[in-house]
Amino acid sequence: MEIKKIKNARGEMTVPGDKSISHRAVMLGAIARGETRISGFLPGADCLSTIDCFRQMGIDIEADGENVTVKGRGLHGLSAPRKTLYTGNSGTTTRLLCGLLSGQSFNSEITGDASICRRPMRRVTEPLSQMGAKISGEYCPLKITGSRLHGIEYDMPVASAQVKTSLLLAGLYAEGGTIIREKEKSRDHTELMLKAMGADIDVSGLDVCLKPVPALTAQEVIVPGDISSAAFFMVLGAIMPDSCITIRNVGINETRTGIIDVLKSMGAKIKLENVRVSAGESAADITVSSSHLTGTQICGALIPRLIDELPVIAAAALFAGGETVIKDAQELKVKETDRIHAVVTEFKKCGADISETDDGMIIRGGRTLHGADFKTYGDHRMAMSLAVLAQLAGGASSLDDARCVEISYPDFFDDLYRLG
Ligand code: S3P
Repeated sequence: MEIKKIKNARGEMTVPGDKSISHRAVMLGAIARGETRISGFLPGADCLSTIDCFRQMGIDIEADGENVTVKGRGLHGLSAPRKTLYTGNSGTTTRLLCGLLSGQSFNSEITGDASICRRPMRRVTEPLSQMGAKISGEYCPLKITGSRLHGIEYDMPVASAQVKTSLLLAGLYAEGGTIIREKEKSRDHTELMLKAMGADIDVSGLDVCLKPVPALTAQEVIVPGDISSAAFFMVLGAIMPDSCITIRNVGINETRTGIIDVLKSMGAKIKLENVRVSAGESAADITVSSSHLTGTQICGALIPRLIDELPVIAAAALFAGGETVIKDAQELKVKETDRIHAVVTEFKKCGADISETDDGMIIRGGRTLHGADFKTYGDHRMAMSLAVLAQLAGGASSLDDARCVEISYPDFFDDLYRLG
């Protein structure tokens, strides 16, 4: 697909609902008592995979675009799926289901697409087995034998909200309390939603402590726009001349706003307005305008707060003066594709000065870039980052497969071209 070019980016927009919150609203809604009404749901392929899996376990879910109603059947209301649950491209669906299904009274099997079958599952199966779970294998397809679980105290070796959530979901079915200690704080949407639904959960610094309760209670969930989707337009607004974009109603949960901190530290003009809070989740309107960026260092506790935004932040760094160093980001290697290798390989095609390191990359900005025929590796965030980069590269650019934006942002290209 040829990437069309816009001259500048001006105007107001919204982005689709937060992917992490959308998944959790369906999953927790399914095991709560009562009806969970979700507005602002992300009808992207990953979240539709989650809906599909729960329908297969007997949950009645009415889905009409952004409005979804989940008719919860309580903690013990899921029924045995008749066939293998298919999670598509969704790591979140796969890993969270491992935790949730471990403590059921039935057996199940999970698999996904080729990318999912390559992604490491040991990070969830290992601690879950310490809780008494029986899961075969370290890669999909995984067979889960429903078992009696007990709580554990677990020090997480990697900062991962998927692992943390998987253990918390198992903890709902375990005997005794579950304590999870994070190395660095990862996104906390599960903790906030569980609390709102009446779970016995305490968070103190990097410790999360959960005790089982007889029931969760359905809640209305208002999903804000996904900051990981807004990120593409935040970067575009900052790097394009004569641009100013306002993105309305974007989630600004502190565990997700690393991109705002980094762009600000690079000198981007960013303004947050109309902050509101719903069930612990904050949202705001974000305005970004053309800026002179300078390189920066991105490492440590900041990484989990912007892990999904690193490909587009790397694109921003190409247009910043000086060097940008990204460290401590080994996790990028086990995302939908190896995002360190993919970013470095593709960015080099257009003349970028970028090199791969063991745990990140080094980017020297300010080079003149030319268009190229890019590969997306079937990775939605690669496709959108390359589309942003292509706007500022001289000449034509194309993507080998742009359909993968369906995963998290089906209307991405319409929204991009409308700004021009
Ligand atoms: C997610 C957690 C992150 C993130 C992913 C969504 C979640 O993964 O990259 O896109 O919803 O919990 P990790 O937990 O593997 O860091």
